[in-house]
Amino acid sequence: MSRPTVEITHREEFSSAHRLHDPALSDEENRRLYGICHRDHGHNYALEVTVVGPIPTSGMVMDLKSLGSIIQERIVAVVDHRHLNHDVPFLAGTIPTAENLAVAFWHQIEPDLKGYAGCRLHRIRVYESRNNFVDFLGASPAR
Ligand code: NI
Repeated sequence: MSRPTVEITHREEFSSAHRLHDPALSDEENRRLYGICHRDHGHNYALEVTVVGPIPTSGMVMDLKSLGSIIQERIVAVVDHRHLNHDVPFLAGTIPTAENLAVAFWHQIEPDLKGYAGCRLHRIRVYESRNNFVDFLGASPAR
């Protein structure tokens, strides 16, 4: 009998400061491109990490507590109440848009999930505000 495949998601929230600034551009060009987001400001972010896999005999695709611990350790502990442009080693050289955060977060936690047989990282969703969020589904050539 085939096992049903299920997506499971854990959500965490964090607060960080950032500014959108491309060092390759002048201040004037940055202001034109990013508007008020060129200034230092902060967001209350939410991060949703979705893992997909078949339901094994345990009934759990992956223990959501373990998923939460990975997200806490690899991401939240590093970005919460930090300035994303200056304080986070894995974001060095990255313009901290929600899009770039989603990709960077993927690379932060994906290696840790390899230890969990049968399931794989499916989606990183980053909410920068209540109304704006981005999804990254990984860079699979099969897609
Ligand atoms: Ni912003």
